[in-house]
Amino acid sequence: MLKSKKAAVITSAACTVCLVAALAACAPQTNATAPDTGSSTADNSAPKAEPVETPEADEFGVVVADAWKDAYPHQYETYKQNEDNSPESGKDNYLETYPALNTMYKGYGFAKGYDEAASHSYTLESIKATPRVNEKTLANCITCKTPQFTAKVNAEGDEVYAIPFADMIDMFNEPISCYNCHENEPTQLVVPSKFYLTSLGDAAQTTPIESQVCGQCHNEYYFNSEKVTSNPYVGTEEMTAEQMLAFYDELEFSDWEHPDTGAAMLKAQHPEFETIYGGNQSHMASLGYSCADCRMGTVTADDGTTFSNHNLVSPLENDAVLEECSSCHKDLPGQVAQWQSEVTEREQELSKEIERYINELAAQKDNLSADDLARAQQIHRHAQFYWDFVMVENSEGAHNPDAAHENLDKCEELLEEGFGLLA
Ligand code: HEC
Ligand code: HEC
Ligand code: HEC
Repeated sequence: MLKSKKAAVITSAACTVCLVAALAACAPQTNATAPDTGSSTADNSAPKAEPVETPEADEFGVVVADAWKDAYPHQYETYKQNEDNSPESGKDNYLETYPALNTMYKGYGFAKGYDEAASHSYTLESIKATPRVNEKTLANCITCKTPQFTAKVNAEGDEVYAIPFADMIDMFNEPISCYNCHENEPTQLVVPSKFYLTSLGDAAQTTPIESQVCGQCHNEYYFNSEKVTSNPYVGTEEMTAEQMLAFYDELEFSDWEHPDTGAAMLKAQHPEFETIYGGNQSHMASLGYSCADCRMGTVTADDGTTFSNHNLVSPLENDAVLEECSSCHKDLPGQVAQWQSEVTEREQELSKEIERYINELAAQKDNLSADDLARAQQIHRHAQFYWDFVMVENSEGAHNPDAAHENLDKCEELLEEGFGLLA
């Protein structure tokens, strides 16, 4: 039994190698000019590891992180360091740092609690603690919290998404771990979230796998009519806030109705991947850098072996990575601070304008013509989505300052038109 299982694992690992080689062959020019950052599959200096015997999987078919401890001690040890980034480590309460959110999210779960994210180690605790979960919440909310849920969906089918949250959450005890990015073979990178691969379309062949593994969770999603986790696009061209709005409008999709303005609202999630790869892409993405190049980096252990740092800190807190950036960015920390302060300053100003717009529309809505009311409500929906898209993307603009400003520009233009209607 054990023997045949292991044989199957080796065969599938071997096939993945062929697949990776085939994918690399049709990689786009941007990847061919990628800098030598140590993560390309074709790069001989990339940290490597030999496959070892696969430890026993749990009841969901997942080999948990602790089981890999002895085989991959460096990756395991740095993976565990993510625990330092805990919910108690001084996280922002966004309802306090952006007071206008209490008006903007009124009537929706996020008005009850919205704190800055912690690390992957705390996903199960965070989801159990959030006041946003209620008796109507479904298991689809567990999509990006544990590999055990992902394995269950892949084994049993999409029906799992529609099971009540409360009936499932206590089954799971493994936060995000090795399986989410490697399945049960750490020498390979794999994306187990099938819905996201569907949404990537052809981009699955041209986007670095070191970014896809992050993008499978760090993306903008919605739950479709079957309650299945889905993305509002196919391919990177459609991954802009503007095109996603068009998609949601076409579908007449909304997350809630705003109690003051009556607008059918949308909540952006955490569009990190789309901010970096959507539309024109960020500069760094078009230079061929992957998420892992900036967030992981290569470490040399005391015994001389090299490995990828699995503590996913900011590149500004990782001297080994920062060193590689310095050839082009003389002062990356200073540059990042400037990008972030420009974006957050505009976010603050515009959030106050959105709040003012909500209050004015609420006061005037009974006196507007049906057409004007419909347009004024649509402006609320659209302007707030553009704003949210920037604000909830967890880099404060640093992942793509140009795209952040473009979306804030669109928000501003819409509000101008909206105030014109109300005047
Ligand atoms: C969030 C995604 C993610 C998780 C979780 C993760 N890894 Fe990785 N791992 C990566 C990426 C990305 C690389 C390749 C980095 C590169 O080449 O730039 C990698 C590389 C590796 C490698 C190849 C050698 C090396 O260090 O580059 C091993 C072995 C490995 N990981 C083991 C593990 C183990 C064991 C766990 C769990 C304790 C784990 N990984 C959890 C993303 C992940
Ligand atoms: C299986 C889903 C999943 C995958 C894969 C994943 N993430 Fe995450 N990530 C999350 C979730 C969920 C959180 C928020 C955790 C919380 O607050 O409970 C998070 C949080 C983070 C944070 C902490 C944010 C903060 O403000 O401190 C960083 C950094 C991060 N992820 C980077 C990455 C990188 C880089 C990769 C790829 C190498 C990756 N993630 C892959 C789901 C994922
Ligand atoms: C080959 C030169 C080069 C290297 C090396 C480089 N960058 Fe960049 N990066 C650029 C250019 C060019 C831009 C465009 C903005 C500018 O002019 O600074 C940019 C922009 C950025 C941005 C803004 C988002 C974007 O992509 O538009 C971030 C963040 C960033 N770099 C981080 C890093 C980090 C982290 C490293 C090291 C891992 C790094 N860069 C290494 C050339 C480089």
